[in-house]
Amino acid sequence: MPDSTPSPDHILQTGLAFWASKTLLSAIELELFTELAKHPLPLTDLRGRLGLHPRSAQDFFDALVALGFLQRSPEGVYSNTPSTDLFLDKRKPAYIGGILEMANHRLYTHWSHLTEALRTGRPQNESRDGSLPLFEALYADPARLREFLAAMSGISRGSNHLIARKFPWDRYQTYADIGTAQGDLAVQIAAANPHLQGIGFDLPEVAPIFEEYVEAHNLSSRLVFQSGDFFKRLLPKADVITMGHILHDWGLPTKQMLIRKAYDSLPKDGALIVYEAIIDDDRRQNAFGLLMSLNMLIETSDGFDYTAADCQRWMHEAGFRRTEVHHLAGPDSMVVAYK
Ligand SMILES: C[S@@+](CC[C@H](N)C(=O)[O-])C[C@H]1O[C@@H](n2cnc3c(N)ncnc32)[C@H](O)[C@@H]1O
Repeated sequence: MPDSTPSPDHILQTGLAFWASKTLLSAIELELFTELAKHPLPLTDLRGRLGLHPRSAQDFFDALVALGFLQRSPEGVYSNTPSTDLFLDKRKPAYIGGILEMANHRLYTHWSHLTEALRTGRPQNESRDGSLPLFEALYADPARLREFLAAMSGISRGSNHLIARKFPWDRYQTYADIGTAQGDLAVQIAAANPHLQGIGFDLPEVAPIFEEYVEAHNLSSRLVFQSGDFFKRLLPKADVITMGHILHDWGLPTKQMLIRKAYDSLPKDGALIVYEAIIDDDRRQNAFGLLMSLNMLIETSDGFDYTAADCQRWMHEAGFRRTEVHHLAGPDSMVVAYK
């Protein structure tokens, strides 16, 4: 019989989870995993490389061992785990640290105002004083723009890889990724499907960062940038339209407007793919999706995450004849609508 005696463990672990979170984020900031990917190091050498104080280093490294992010040999030599070596070494293409760098620089502080956001419903980030909308406030600083766009690749990469392979791309010739950011989804689709021609659509500030990324993957002949504001103009025409982490940035009228514009730009039998941390229909399981929605409370003026059933309803209201839901990586799913 399962033990039903109440225990404080889960309460304390969650209440103090920021200790573990900040330890990992500081390790990424210090480029610890990038350093160890070059070669494993004993305590004093590793401490010297990172410029840490003697008082902090051993506890910091051993905490990362206990948390499962580092390994330590019986001789006291530290090395990455297979996961941290693959995903947190800055020099590897699989690096996902962009989102965690942004979490460290921005979200960690903004989330300290969560209680105020819960009371007021107001964002708590750079647009907190209400003078500039989110993307204008974010993009006013070129370093922040670059960090944000790379962060998007970090959070989306696992699902992007699956979308590029799971969807029946052989039935289509063209696609447009709306709000493409650095362009990781568009790049992965093009790389996995050599017959396709793609468009990355986003605000003009994004162009050089997208083009640099596409160039680095040698895909400039099949993947182009189209600049535009989706509030002001129609979406590009394509057989498939993708929207990753777009709908959750906005309130319901904008979500519906974007789905309608996608419908208008698609040919008959064309498809719209919407993906992000779609909340389970019963709103009990996907804690990450629900916390992402609170992140939208912190980051945007009216954005929120939603269930697959919500999204399918909006798609049918816009005229799509059929929808389906497929699980992607971790907390992410895609909702596909066919015109
Ligand atoms: C949360 S990011 C999602 C990035 C990417 N699709 C992903 O899933 O990783 C939202 C994107 O929408 C773009 N965006 C915001 N407002 C826009 C607008 N009015 N017109 C076009 N793109 C916009 C932003 O520049 C940003 O790249």
